[in-house]
Amino acid sequence: MCGIVAYVGSQGAMDVVVEGLRRLEYRGYDSAGVAVQTPRPDGRWALATEKRAGKLVNLEKALAERPLPAGTVGIGHTRWATHGGPTDLNAHPHLDDHGRVAVVHNGIIENFAELREELAGRGHTLRSETDTEVVAHLLGEVFAGDLAEAMRVVCRRLEGAFTLVAVHADQPGVVVGARRNSPLVVGRGVGENFLASDVAAFIAFTREAVELGQDQVVELRADGVSVTDFEGRPAVVREYHVDWDASAAEKGGYDYFMLKEIAEQPKAVADTLLGRIGADGQLTLDELRLDDADLRAVEKVVIVACGTAYHAGAIAKYAIEHWTRVPCEVEVASEFRYRDPILDERTLVIAISQSGETMDTLMALRHAREQGAKVLAICNTNGSTIPRESDAVLYTHAGPEVAVASTKAFLTQLVACYLVALYLGQVRGTKWGDEILAVIEELRDAPKQVEQVLRTMEPVRELARSLADARAVLFLGRHVGYPVALEGALKLKELAYMHAEGFAAGELKHGPIALIEEGLPVVVVAPSPRGRSVLHDKVVSNIQEIRARGARTIVIAEEGDEAVAPYADHLIRIPATPVLLQPLVATVPLQVFACELATAKGHEVDQPRNLAKSVTVE
Ligand code: G6P
Repeated sequence: MCGIVAYVGSQGAMDVVVEGLRRLEYRGYDSAGVAVQTPRPDGRWALATEKRAGKLVNLEKALAERPLPAGTVGIGHTRWATHGGPTDLNAHPHLDDHGRVAVVHNGIIENFAELREELAGRGHTLRSETDTEVVAHLLGEVFAGDLAEAMRVVCRRLEGAFTLVAVHADQPGVVVGARRNSPLVVGRGVGENFLASDVAAFIAFTREAVELGQDQVVELRADGVSVTDFEGRPAVVREYHVDWDASAAEKGGYDYFMLKEIAEQPKAVADTLLGRIGADGQLTLDELRLDDADLRAVEKVVIVACGTAYHAGAIAKYAIEHWTRVPCEVEVASEFRYRDPILDERTLVIAISQSGETMDTLMALRHAREQGAKVLAICNTNGSTIPRESDAVLYTHAGPEVAVASTKAFLTQLVACYLVALYLGQVRGTKWGDEILAVIEELRDAPKQVEQVLRTMEPVRELARSLADARAVLFLGRHVGYPVALEGALKLKELAYMHAEGFAAGELKHGPIALIEEGLPVVVVAPSPRGRSVLHDKVVSNIQEIRARGARTIVIAEEGDEAVAPYADHLIRIPATPVLLQPLVATVPLQVFACELATAKGHEVDQPRNLAKSVTVE
């Protein structure tokens, strides 16, 4: 949510910053803006800025028509609006009254109204409707030659969540950043340094990164980086090497990132499985700061997550309860802490997040830890806040996911959930070693099976195009097929802006069946007939019920399942898998379906309206 980039070095800062913004545009695309330090003829320095509402391309056009003066120190921002509409005026950077300090911000400053009033009382003119602008004015007031010190003073007055990055005309060669509950990473180059919300912004220049902690201020110069806490005490930071390169964040010949990311799923699944099983057949997880005794003592598992990650959690519940016999609840993170959940040191909370920065999930995990629960994070972003604040981490290895609608991260989250469930089963002794190995073997087939599904998607694309004018689409499933149906509906809402709902197939008769009318497309995820056959039989009945009422049935069913064939207007075949693992293959056609339907409607697949990939506000 909001992307920030800053550069100090010897290259043209605007080129580096705009390139970085391009890679961060997934974080928000309501407006974009830049500021650069430039020398004036009188020997002093000035700031030049440009900003535009709308996507980055609007800013790029403005910069092409009226380039900013050259400079080697600059900052940039791409916005997902919270306070104040997406206008030129509300776009970042924001300046103080004298135009000497420029600030970009990600997050929400909760006490901004009070600060605004205070500043107005001292004669400041605030031009925008944003919470950010107060920071520019406060920095301008307290600056006495040292921007990092001014930032520390100002941060101590701020409440809420923020990443702030600023430059001052009277301190050339310096960029200052600060973070509390919003992401910011340093990229260390040779004779140049970077700041960004995400390493993707500077990965083309350096793969050496420094993780900033909570409540820290960083001062960036071409030849060095220094970090303190908000009181000015030197801070300890962690340096790390980013193990993917710029090409991983490029479209690689696909029209959209989403298409590329769908195609990358077999590899993402395989990578997430890599190295998890030791020579002794024992499972290993990353950064496990919990011991087996803690895990044996667990009496309840609670999964918290948002959006697509929540659907991964909803599927994980079935595996965790079946394999470990430990009760498992799943809850959307934004609801979790407000209902005063019952948690103690025998509760294991699993927080699932692609970005590792989702504020709702972060707040849920903090609440859980305050109550004494242990937290295990499943995350795709090394060094992000959620894994850093957890007791244990299992990283998914999906690589950078850029499209706003999550695909490959979802499949790898499922793999990670299965691994966690097996690990729990292993330490608690509810699963024998050979049973675990059998599931692992089945998981190892998943990349091949996903690949097979991807090879047979042309009829699904054709069907999606034919439904571009449909008013609504319903999705039905039972057991693990139910969260898959929810995910199919979410994808269609996000990308095609259509009315799409997922229902538990058995719940249909209790209300939703009233929605069925002649020609309404209904996607049904059929469970394997080889599993609990009663489940399969029930779904076959449900398909007949909706078809009798005029629905156009689109059935996802495993190869060899002939019982559903007579009732399917469209049959989408997926490989036979064990019941619990079916979501790994059943979700893929739904991703393709939503992507193609949205494209047929002329929508922007990678950047759907009103959404952002990493939502760092509550
Ligand atoms: C946003 C995105 C979703 C994503 C959700 C959770 O709403 O648009 O695609 O599933 O956040 O994100 P996370 O990074 O925590 O997995």
